[in-house]
Amino acid sequence: MKKFGILVVILATFLAAKSFITDIEYGKMLYQNPRGIGCDKCHGKSGFGGVIAIYKEFNKTSGEKYDANLTTPNIINLTPQEFADGIMQSRGVMPSYFLTADEIVAIYKYLNKEKLNDK
Ligand code: HEC
Repeated sequence: MKKFGILVVILATFLAAKSFITDIEYGKMLYQNPRGIGCDKCHGKSGFGGVIAIYKEFNKTSGEKYDANLTTPNIINLTPQEFADGIMQSRGVMPSYFLTADEIVAIYKYLNKEKLNDK
């Protein structure tokens, strides 16, 4: 019974805390921890994108090595639809996520509110 009481307190605290955070704070939290690898790891702190890896590639025909890099797109200033499509239809490098529409909207609001201070 005592254990149950503690659980109720923890749950109540969590619910209370959740209602105090704004959409933007919620979006930031999801951007950094979207039940999978954080978006910030690839798209940068504020979504400006950039180079995430530099490597050497070998051209068999010329027999030469050249620098290649893996970049992520800037995901700010997309329309909400383009943004949602980009998440839902991840191809190639970007992993798949299972985010609800509300969660995507929250991330969108966060990114488009904080256009300054990247990296
Ligand atoms: C492993 C690196 C990686 C992670 C993590 C990642 N992305 Fe991406 N994202 C990419 C790459 C690379 C692309 C370009 C398309 C491709 O190659 O998959 C992309 C494309 C996108 C696009 C489409 C951009 C356009 O111009 O259409 C959106 C939107 C996007 N990502 C949002 C997110 C969000 C939101 C998260 C977190 C939930 C996230 N990404 C996590 C690498 C990543």
